[in-house]
Amino acid sequence: MCSIIGCLHSDSNLDASITLIESMRKMEYRGYDSVGIATLNDNQILLKKGVGRVSVVNQKLSLNDLNGEIGIGHTRWATHGGVTELNAHPHLSAEDKIAVVHNGIIENHLDLKNDLKSHGIIFKSETDTEVIPNLLLSILNKKNEIKSAVIKTVSKLTGQYSFIAMLKNKSLIGVKNHEPLILGLGPDGYVLSSDILGFSKNVNDVIYLDDEQFVIVNSNGYSIYDFKGNPINLTSTKLTKTFETWDKGHYDHFTIKEIHEQTSTILQSGIHSLNEFNTFFNILKNSKRIYITGSGTSYNSALVAKYLFPKIAGMNIEPILSSEMNFFENCFDEHSTLIAISQSGESADVLNAVAFAKERNSRILSIVNTTTSSLVKSSDSFIGLNCGYEVGVAATKSFTSQITILYRLLEKFNPTQKTTSQLNLVVDAISKILNDQKPVIDICNKLKDVDHLYILGRGAHYPIAKEGALKIKELTYIHAEGIAAGELKHGPLALIDNSTYVIMINPKDDSSIYADNISNASEIKSRGAKIIGISNEYDQIYDYWIPLPDVPKIFYPLIEIVPFQLIAYHLSIERGNDPDYPRNLAKSVTVK
Ligand code: G6P
Repeated sequence: MCSIIGCLHSDSNLDASITLIESMRKMEYRGYDSVGIATLNDNQILLKKGVGRVSVVNQKLSLNDLNGEIGIGHTRWATHGGVTELNAHPHLSAEDKIAVVHNGIIENHLDLKNDLKSHGIIFKSETDTEVIPNLLLSILNKKNEIKSAVIKTVSKLTGQYSFIAMLKNKSLIGVKNHEPLILGLGPDGYVLSSDILGFSKNVNDVIYLDDEQFVIVNSNGYSIYDFKGNPINLTSTKLTKTFETWDKGHYDHFTIKEIHEQTSTILQSGIHSLNEFNTFFNILKNSKRIYITGSGTSYNSALVAKYLFPKIAGMNIEPILSSEMNFFENCFDEHSTLIAISQSGESADVLNAVAFAKERNSRILSIVNTTTSSLVKSSDSFIGLNCGYEVGVAATKSFTSQITILYRLLEKFNPTQKTTSQLNLVVDAISKILNDQKPVIDICNKLKDVDHLYILGRGAHYPIAKEGALKIKELTYIHAEGIAAGELKHGPLALIDNSTYVIMINPKDDSSIYADNISNASEIKSRGAKIIGISNEYDQIYDYWIPLPDVPKIFYPLIEIVPFQLIAYHLSIERGNDPDYPRNLAKSVTVK
């Protein structure tokens, strides 16, 4: 799972490497363990690649020294083969004739590799990718015609993938098969990219390839075909992207900037989708069964919905992890609706879950940040988070925007809910938490060397406990577990001793669970553990207290996640980690 970029400048004085590096920096959210570039110069493929982020590898290898108006680039999130220079992309065919960058997985790569090996091809890497340039070359050697060689090549590949191949005749081939690929058009030539983020200011128009299509780009223009070889006429759309958000401002990291942005992003969430709220309402009220899906943080939002919908709208909604969707075949038919939640709209698990429900005639509604994403294209209607680019790999502002949209949607079902008129109170409370981070920083000091953390919550606070634990895991690499507080005594209590810290989410809302939580805290204390209470009310049972400002009771889940985001951020710095780019992760996981 990775980002792929290809560039063909119309002016031979413009070096593709400059464009590629700029694109790769912006696409690192798709993977950032290694990077590489190949360009074509004087009929030679020039190649540089290495382990690390774009800035690190560029500094070490001067990627921008590669000349040539045509080139391809890649940022990697390892799937097949370790994080090594040899496994970094681009990969070359035999005789260095074709270079390829690839996103996704070639499922039958072992069979293909063995076959190619039996014909004398030597493989240098452990990747699945390396079969692509070699297969393409072996077919081209026989067919000598690019279009039919591509068709034959893709007929032999199985899996979900996109790739860009650079050929010595100065052409790029971009192939899309259930992984994203977009063609950008501009005065300086063509750019192929996994995401519109990869386009620079001089791409004006874009063409979204569909699945099972490929494009051949050269100095004469471009041609698009489907995998059967039929020419395809796709219309271009104006690129409406804004380019100024890639800036940390006065913050040290994107993550803390994005945590602070929540005071405005919550208010903006969904505001460009006012009609779509009505569409959602009409579809949902006419559905017999409603499911909600997502991955990671977005799934935790789905879990919040499970608690809010019955309480506010008097209706049930069933969360299903996107990666588990195909175990629920009987849930989906023309009477069911699936709400998909996703920041990127590109998570492969989410897209597969949606495809699964769609195949069974269910309606698809999505709550998504990237309104040009594949998820939007698969949906009957969508509501945009409208929270701006989220660069930090650990989702923060997108989570609170997702939850806000759920509240706004619930107001349609139950106007007494009054979300819109009360959101100012929510953002005021978040501002208060952000303006006094001392209680959080003091606690981080105590927690910096712990190996485990347990976070307890009940009702709608339980998904927040899970999301808090996810943030801590992602950024600090401390094992953290979100537990429904009542479940503690059914097992996890065995883990508690006098070295343990337990965080208890315990606002005094109307769910009459406050006293139950205090009893749980007492049981934990009796085993010697320290309690960190997150609440609008102090209790002497807490060894440490992170105060929450008062908000209308139903909105506590929306503000109580913020202390966790701050704990995760500050602890990550204490422990010497990069909070924006945690190890082994990627912002958008585009493989199954
Ligand atoms: C990855 C990210 C998570 C994110 C999840 C879902 O695993 O590391 O932070 O929550 O994908 O992403 P989505 O874009 O679908 O919300």
